[in-house]
Amino acid sequence: MDSTPKIDRIALEALLATSREMMAFDDLPALLDRVLDRLSSIVKPDRAAILLVDPQTGAMIPRAVRPAGAYSSVSEFASSTVVREALTARDVFIVHDIRMDPRLQQAQSVLAAGVRSVICVPLLGRTGPIGALYADKLGVEQFAPELAEYAAAFAGHAAAALETAQLYDDRHRHFRATLEAFAKAIDARDHYTAGHSERVTAYSLVLARHSGKYSSDFETIRRAGMLHDIGKVGVPDSVLLKAGSLDAVERAQIEAHVTIGHMMLEPLPFLGTSLAAVRGHHERWDGDGYPDRLGGTDIHPHARLMAVADSYDAMTSARPYRAALPAEEAARRLRADSGKQFDPEMIELFDGVQQELAALHEQPEGAELRAELLRSVG
Ligand SMILES: [Fe+2]
Repeated sequence: MDSTPKIDRIALEALLATSREMMAFDDLPALLDRVLDRLSSIVKPDRAAILLVDPQTGAMIPRAVRPAGAYSSVSEFASSTVVREALTARDVFIVHDIRMDPRLQQAQSVLAAGVRSVICVPLLGRTGPIGALYADKLGVEQFAPELAEYAAAFAGHAAAALETAQLYDDRHRHFRATLEAFAKAIDARDHYTAGHSERVTAYSLVLARHSGKYSSDFETIRRAGMLHDIGKVGVPDSVLLKAGSLDAVERAQIEAHVTIGHMMLEPLPFLGTSLAAVRGHHERWDGDGYPDRLGGTDIHPHARLMAVADSYDAMTSARPYRAALPAEEAARRLRADSGKQFDPEMIELFDGVQQELAALHEQPEGAELRAELLRSVG
């Protein structure tokens, strides 16, 4: 007869599955949820959380909590005594019956919540603790003693995966900050275009989100939006900032910004999918645009979408030779050019988000809305 406790087989299978799948995640919030779900399926707690150390303050911040949204701070659900003991000992802290444990007689929050049994496992990264897994049971049920070993093994895998995801997350944030700095540098050439790249990115993301078609392209569109005019660094100030009308040579110099941008970004592999919109955002649906005089669906959809966002921002922003157009008038002109300059499908998308774009354009209120949008989309 097999005398192995059932928990071992189930736990081992879960551990292997978890370990495999966790290393495939590079999205920190999704990974945190997955880790907690996997832990919960074996440990079966009433409440559980992952606390991560805030690198700036050293405080433990709950990053994923079950039941979802039930608690907002550590002290509401986890005893700081329990978490501290686990981190100090660098080992699983398990209490089967809290009422009998002398270490927790001062742990008022835990006692008050009617907690009976607690497990806390430190998440140990390469350079020290990165957080802790916490789970408790209320009422009369207790955690099984063999769970301590499982929880420790699980936490080892979880810590490795979380540390990797945190590195990805950091890299991602630094990359975004770099793009934003580039966008500011591009727009700083000309005070009339201050904030243009960021606004075009925000409008493009709103259009893309509204379409429901490009949800896996948000990051590509964001990068293209931030960098779509980067080639303007290769256009002389005397042309770029000229207030009067441009002659043919000057016009060609301005138009070259899309091919210069394409050439600058082409060697960067992580921008490969963004090149189409950088190069193609001045193409026209009727084939009269530049640089490749593409028409209709030969123009990449991201470029067709960005053409609308770019023109809307150009029209609703002041220029040396004219004041900003009201949002309604800009919208009217976009619609009038549907099927000529713009893809009718993209103008239909614009119709669905016109109010949202107008709100994003507002000064100063729109700035906060755009920042929030850029934080949350993609
Ligand atoms: Fe442009």
